[in-house]
This record gives sequence, structure tokens and C-alpha cells, in this order.
Amino acid sequence: MNKVVVGAQWGDEGKAKITDLLAQDADLIIRYQGGCNAGHTVVVDNKTFKFHLIPSGILYGDKDCFIGAGTVILPEYFEEEVSGLIKDGINVSRLKVSPLASITMPYHTEVDGFVESTAKKGKIGTTKKGIGPTYTDKYARIGLKIQDLYSKETLSEKLDVILPIKNKTLEQVYGLEPYSKEKVLELCEKYAKIFEPYVCFKWQELLEKSRKKIVLFEGAQGVMLDVDYGTYPFVTSSNPIGGGAATGSGYGPKMIDEVVGVAKAYVTRVGEGPFVTELTDEIGDKIREIGHEYGVTTGRPRRCGWFDAVTMRYAVLVGGLTTIALTKADVFDTFDEIKVCTAYKDTRDGKIYKSYPTDVYMHKYLEPVYETHKGWNEDITGIRKYDKLPENCRRYLARLEQLLEVPISIVSVGPSREQTIFK
Ligand code: IMP
Repeated sequence: MNKVVVGAQWGDEGKAKITDLLAQDADLIIRYQGGCNAGHTVVVDNKTFKFHLIPSGILYGDKDCFIGAGTVILPEYFEEEVSGLIKDGINVSRLKVSPLASITMPYHTEVDGFVESTAKKGKIGTTKKGIGPTYTDKYARIGLKIQDLYSKETLSEKLDVILPIKNKTLEQVYGLEPYSKEKVLELCEKYAKIFEPYVCFKWQELLEKSRKKIVLFEGAQGVMLDVDYGTYPFVTSSNPIGGGAATGSGYGPKMIDEVVGVAKAYVTRVGEGPFVTELTDEIGDKIREIGHEYGVTTGRPRRCGWFDAVTMRYAVLVGGLTTIALTKADVFDTFDEIKVCTAYKDTRDGKIYKSYPTDVYMHKYLEPVYETHKGWNEDITGIRKYDKLPENCRRYLARLEQLLEVPISIVSVGPSREQTIFK
């Protein structure tokens, strides 16, 4: 069965652990969107691995791992991540990169950093990894793709079109330094060397060959950060939703059998943007500390809040989620009470929203309508069977399933591979 792993909230739901687990049965793992803005942590044999771009399935050593056309890649970051894995003794010989993936150039990161640090209004809180500007150029058709690095003629022709536009914007809009063609060619030569061992010009053969095998599609970020369906403009610049796997991987939608939405038992968010169930009190702090809620890529403290069934029902719909992997359930082990938001109330007129209101500028007027569940006050990190979970925990999970109308098929009770309950 071919599965897509999708973040169901605002990213950081623990997708890497679930991807890692599901990768056991897969022959090919494809990362389909995003760039090194994503930060994934996987714990294997007490060793922590941090991933940004490379599918965590690489840890198995015997699976093809493909970074698809829908991604954007910052070459230096890619190089650093690969070297780190090699240093840790991981076999990266089956790592492959699509020649159609977009390259994040230094001017993209400069613009991202500049915009973020000078914005007085409308700050997004990006990871400053140049993601937005790279996708902007891709869609403006002035981006560079990895394949361009290997054709002097193509590269030269493209740069003659790109650089006059780019430099004008860099200088006149942002007050940044322009880039000479020589400088960019020099950078591209360096990048060509970085990607050479991994660029897969025979990717069509790879996908053909794997058509009858098991493919796992790995998304980054989460549904609520999707550029079309998320809390726009406080989103990333790609499509983390299940549908993104069909465009970003090179396979069509018929290859997908199941979409696994990964959600925390609570909600976190980094960066700016609406978050109706956010807790700015000591309960939020408690969740942050127990859940170690600090960004992998930026180290920023994550905003924390109660589980939001309104956004999750929306995520089930637009993300195409067919099942849920619920992570970090153990973070609630010492909580007497656990809340779940089942609706939003407009503080201006008392209107109740059961469906997600997509105009995020009015979210400041919304407050969560909660139902309260009794905690289980028991350490569940050692439990491996669903029916061994405390009754209050099973009740909480059953209620979430009822609210979301999709089954919770995986419950994660700790960071390691073994701390997982399959229902
Ligand atoms: P960008 O993707 O760096 O442009 O950032 C846009 C928004 O997405 C910001 O709110 C980021 O904090 C958020 N974001 C990007 N990548 C991740 C991630 O891996 N986890 C959680 N949030 C992310």
C-alpha cells in the first residue's frame, strides 16, 4: 500500500518518526515539497538524527530515497546534511535528487532574511532559508533547476534572462547587492559538484521501476501551512497537503492509497499567524517543556495550545487524510485535565463556527469552545498495546476519532521507534 505522510497541523507533528516507521515496508521514499525549512528528528537506538531535506528513510540504508521536483534545495545545507549522515556511518548511496528540483540561491536567502528582519507589518516568521523567494522565482519562471547546473549553454542562456530581472529587484526593491554572471557561474560550478553524486537523471526509470513496489511519500510542514489551504499568508510556499505528493513526486494521484495525517495530541506552531487554541499561560509552558517544543531548524520556542478539532476536521478534508497518527500522547501523562476545542465562538456576535473559517484576519475575534476530559495521570511511555492504555486515554482518543471521523491507527508515546502503538 502506498502512503503519504502529511503533517495535519502547523508542522512539527512528529512526521519523521512516523515516516521512519512506515519506511520499513517501503522500497522508495519520496520527499515531495518544501526545502530545508523543515526540521525532523528521528531517534534510533538512542541516537538522535536531525533531518531537513533528506527523507529519514535513508537510515535503513537499503531503500531508494528521492528528493522530488516539488522541493527547493539550498546546496550548502544539502551538503552539510549528507556529510553529517556519512559521518554517522549512514549509507547514502541510494539517495537521489530530482534534476527538476529548484535551487535556493544566496539571493533568495538574503531576500528572505531582509524581508523578515525589516517587516514592520505582516511579518510571517519564516525560517529565513529562502523558501518563499525560491518558490516565487520558480513560479515567475526565473528559477534555476538542478539540471541547469550540468549544461553550460542552458545555464548561460537562463542567466541572461534571470539576472537583469533579479538584480534590478535586488538593488531597487531591497537595496541589496547585485550578482554578476561570473559570480553566479562560479556558485553553480560549486553546486554542480555538490549534487553530482546524487542527481538522478534516470528518475523516470526509477519511478517506472518502483511503480509496482511500495512507495512512501513524505511531506514537510503541515496542512495549515499549505500555500492554498493554510492560514494564508502565514504559510509556507508549497503544498504539504496529500495532493502535493501527486505534483511534487512525479507520480500521479492514482499511486496513492492512503494519506496518513500526523497530529500531536495538542497543537504547536512556530512563526506568526492565527492560532485560536494557543495557551499563553503556565499550561502552555508545561506542554512546551514536557514536549520539548523548540524548533529543530531555528531553535525557536514553539507556541503551544490544546487540540483543535475545528482545524483538524478541515485538515482531514483538504489534506485528504484517511487515517491519523497521533503523536506525543505521553506529554499529557501528568495532566489532570485535557481540553479539546470543538468549535469557535465569535466574540463579537456569539456566532458558533463548527467549520473552519478561512478568513484568518478575523481569527482574532474567535475564542475556542472547549470540552474537558479527565487526564490519566499515568506514565504511558512503556505501553505498546492499545488496550493496555489507561481508560481515560482511550476515551480521549475515541473522542478525537469521533470528532474527526477518521480512525487513529497509530499512537506514539515517546520518541523512539519502539514507543509506538499500532491499533
Ligand atoms: P518558510 O517556510 O521558511 O517560508 O516559513 C513560513 C512559515 O512556515 C513560518 O511560519 C515558519 O515558521 C513555518 N514553517 C516552515 N517550516 C516549518 C516546519 O518544518 N515546521 C513548522 N513550521 C514551519
